[in-house]
Amino acid sequence: MTDIVPTVEGLAFGGDYNPEQWPREVWDEDIALMREAGVNLVSVNIFSWGRINPGPGRWHFDELDAIMDTLAEAGIKADLATSTASPPPWFSQLHPDTLPVDPEGHRLNYGARAEYCPHAPAFQDAVVEMASKLAERYAGHPALAMWHIGNEYYRSCYCDLAAEAFRAWLAERHGDLDALNDAWGTTFWSQTFTDWEQVLPPRISAETPNPGHLLDFKRFSSDALLKLFRSEAEAVERHSPGVPITTNLMVTGDFSGLDYHRWGEHLNAADRLIATDHYLIPEGPIEPEAQVAFGADASRGLARGGPWLLMEQAANSSAWRGGYFAKKPGEQLRHSLSYVAHGSEGAMYFQWRASRYGTERWHSAMLPHGGPETKTFREVKTLGGWLKRLAEVKGSVVQSKAAILLDFESVWAAANPGQPSGHMASYPELRRWHAALWRRGVTCDLANPAWDLSRYAAVFAPSLYLLEDDANLRRYVEGGGTLVVGPYSGIVDRNDHVHPGLPGALRDLLGVRVEEFAPLHEGETIALDDGTEGHAWSEIAKAEDAEVAARFIGYPSTGALFHRGLGDGEVWYLSTRLTDLDPFLDRLNLTPTVPGLPAGVETVRRAHEDGRTYLFALNHTDRPVTIPTEGTDLLTGATWTPKTHLHGNSAAVVRER
Ligand code: GAL
Repeated sequence: MTDIVPTVEGLAFGGDYNPEQWPREVWDEDIALMREAGVNLVSVNIFSWGRINPGPGRWHFDELDAIMDTLAEAGIKADLATSTASPPPWFSQLHPDTLPVDPEGHRLNYGARAEYCPHAPAFQDAVVEMASKLAERYAGHPALAMWHIGNEYYRSCYCDLAAEAFRAWLAERHGDLDALNDAWGTTFWSQTFTDWEQVLPPRISAETPNPGHLLDFKRFSSDALLKLFRSEAEAVERHSPGVPITTNLMVTGDFSGLDYHRWGEHLNAADRLIATDHYLIPEGPIEPEAQVAFGADASRGLARGGPWLLMEQAANSSAWRGGYFAKKPGEQLRHSLSYVAHGSEGAMYFQWRASRYGTERWHSAMLPHGGPETKTFREVKTLGGWLKRLAEVKGSVVQSKAAILLDFESVWAAANPGQPSGHMASYPELRRWHAALWRRGVTCDLANPAWDLSRYAAVFAPSLYLLEDDANLRRYVEGGGTLVVGPYSGIVDRNDHVHPGLPGALRDLLGVRVEEFAPLHEGETIALDDGTEGHAWSEIAKAEDAEVAARFIGYPSTGALFHRGLGDGEVWYLSTRLTDLDPFLDRLNLTPTVPGLPAGVETVRRAHEDGRTYLFALNHTDRPVTIPTEGTDLLTGATWTPKTHLHGNSAAVVRER
């Protein structure tokens, strides 16, 4: 496995570092405390456009020089950002057409961040100029470990420049206007285009918009940001070849603005690194530890099982998540270790030192307002020590035999308006299945349905509304895999046109024919004759070439759960959303990483090619537990035996014998 952070020794540990917000004497304290905590990588220059380039043609690098030199002297590496995520006011004022326009046609003002239109040539030129200047200046700097392009790409724009770029993108995708009219089904409601100039971004209109239009605009917006990222990355590469390049994605489970699998094709290459930010959802049905695992498993999926890096997390609360919620003692430690267990090559935070001012003055930090004598900073120091002792884990690969299928286009299409049910959103359902598998100790990748799935013993498609055809899934099943398909899957093609004959693209593979959908109301449930219960959805479904494993009570001719053996494998179809997934999962032969552990005790194994394995054991409960393995706990150096107690709310990483 390639060493993703060649110039950072061991696992990466640190966070966003914004010394430009502080007087010099604070820098000295920062460096001393970073060394005490074992910080070896910091992300700098994320939001410094206005400091480096305070006016047209004016460039001031003294401060960034000083920051980079200070880090180099201290032996701390820099994840050096191009600072292009937040143009300063002078730039927006000089180029008003770079300010983004929302779907209602309002041009947004500057005053916060990410106020740019990705399609504005002035912005596109400026970011390449900035990236080039920085790369020219800092290539070869002893502190430089990697380049960080932009910050959390997500902005979309509906302005006239966006309209122009959208038309060009559509012409490339569809060829001519007739093909576009077909793809969008514009004969519906008499919306046929006769001239390209009539084609606009999906600005607010008088009625529910066209789903094909919305879907293509999502694709276009994701591609436009990817193009922007690539333009900067290529500029950096020209001047600073061979240094890893990354950007912080938001592979979190509640952001689906970009098609990260398309991004992954570019970030999963030589000298590129998949990195993600992850801020947990404070309330809701899924426990924080399972959320951590989801973000990590999805990021590892993007990296196709290979190395990736947790670029940002919160040491305590994220103010923007709405209100103050504190992490319990030890919680950030277990979370950080869990990201590493699930494949991250380190644990990074936003941010090193809490800001005294600005929108995020109440966002937690590694070094909180309370200073070093705080629970948070004490834990940061503990973590720094642990990560140092885990250096040998770097480059090992997570062992996973199960996958959940995630397709961003399908998530988007399922969110299009005009659905038969308002309760069939995709992403929350993927998270729910993932959490159920996580609670059973099954390590799971999030994988795209088009990828080679042959290495997985079981593949779950709980919600895969959009699917062009069944070829890849059929290959997987016939080759010996177990495929589980949730309802309302395989329904539409890539243009969001309904496949004739439900359930569309999957009908033959499943051996099931759905006559009609029978969506359920909020709170309504439907009983199955195997003692389980469904919610949100049911359907009148008949076996064509499958066995009926369970039926809806009161609907004897309708199947609820279908099973079919095919080739060397098998496929299950669920025609409702099961409320409790466990009774169904009990039917499958799933192997947890370590069998027999109580709920809340998480184990994940990473392995090197030479056979060395590491068992990460995270006890998220209050009760002690024994973990049946033998070796050395790298966190303490102590011998581990099957009788060793893993205390409540603690962790061990056993290099197994
Ligand atoms: C991220 C962002 C950081 C900071 C952080 C706070 O989305 O990249 O700059 O705002 O959130 O949670």
